[in-house]
Amino acid sequence: MSRTARAHTNIALIKYWGKKDAKLRLPLMSSLSMTLDAFYSETKLTDASEMSFSLNGVKQEGPAASRVFNYLKLMQERFGVSGSLAVESINHVPTAAGLASSSSAFAALAAAFADHYQLDVDRQELSRMARMGSGSASRSIYGGFAVWQKGSSDADSFAYPLVESPKMDLKLLAVELNDQPKKISSTKGMEASKTSPFYQTWLDRNDQELADMEDAIKTGDFTKLGSLAELNASEMHSLTLTAQPGFTYFEPDTIKAIKLVGNLREKGVECYYTIDAGPNVKILCQSQNCKKIINNFETAFERVKIIEAGFGPGISYQD
Ligand code: PMV
Repeated sequence: MSRTARAHTNIALIKYWGKKDAKLRLPLMSSLSMTLDAFYSETKLTDASEMSFSLNGVKQEGPAASRVFNYLKLMQERFGVSGSLAVESINHVPTAAGLASSSSAFAALAAAFADHYQLDVDRQELSRMARMGSGSASRSIYGGFAVWQKGSSDADSFAYPLVESPKMDLKLLAVELNDQPKKISSTKGMEASKTSPFYQTWLDRNDQELADMEDAIKTGDFTKLGSLAELNASEMHSLTLTAQPGFTYFEPDTIKAIKLVGNLREKGVECYYTIDAGPNVKILCQSQNCKKIINNFETAFERVKIIEAGFGPGISYQD
């Protein structure tokens, strides 16, 4: 009897933005993330007469289903197992979060696959498996802070836990400004960004940025962590603006939110932004300031939804 696998989403503080190998999903840089308690995916596999995929109780067809089936075929070939599977997934990642669910979705799928076939895999191998579905999923195997070391091949490109139960006071506010699906997938955005004249600088800075972020985590230095995360996100988005041709994930409200974060900081409410491949803004702050920040955003934006998250756990299984 297969169990349900649960994986939480993560937010990258040092971002993965560039593939070295698209098929194996090997990155050009290492990345570091915070796993979030508020958002997760649950997935269960059962033997069936044909492949099927349901998400939140709705049968999926088209590209979403193909991506899951192709992934399962790849994993079946890798482990020498076979059979048609029914995939049932529940995403507890409201669109309101403005967070991509692929990190939790593919981490949960990899874990459900390993459980279904009773594979003897450790978390490192599970991370490599999840990576093949979505790069950021490699980090969702662990709780707290995780690092995905870029490695140089399939064998050594995996995530490892940095601190699984951090004591640090760190919150993430997911601010939904726009609920439209993103127009440029992260894969396309990453490829296009390689044409930026700043791309090599982005790669050259990775080791130092990662080391500085690890240091901020080890010393519990929120100011350093927030400043570095904000800088890293801005660097990533500057690659899109300077790509040939240039583009941006930002919408007018994204800029408004960035300015509001700056204004709050000037007033002594310490907070920093980070932004992924979409227009929504995530704010890093500490417990004492969450309410104040939420109030300010609710006043500044007419229809804003904000969800507060703290540290989430790694992979777990439910009977
Ligand atoms: O794993 P993907 O293909 O969804 O790409 C993730 C890209 C970012 O979210 C922007 C950065 C990251 O490291 O999560």
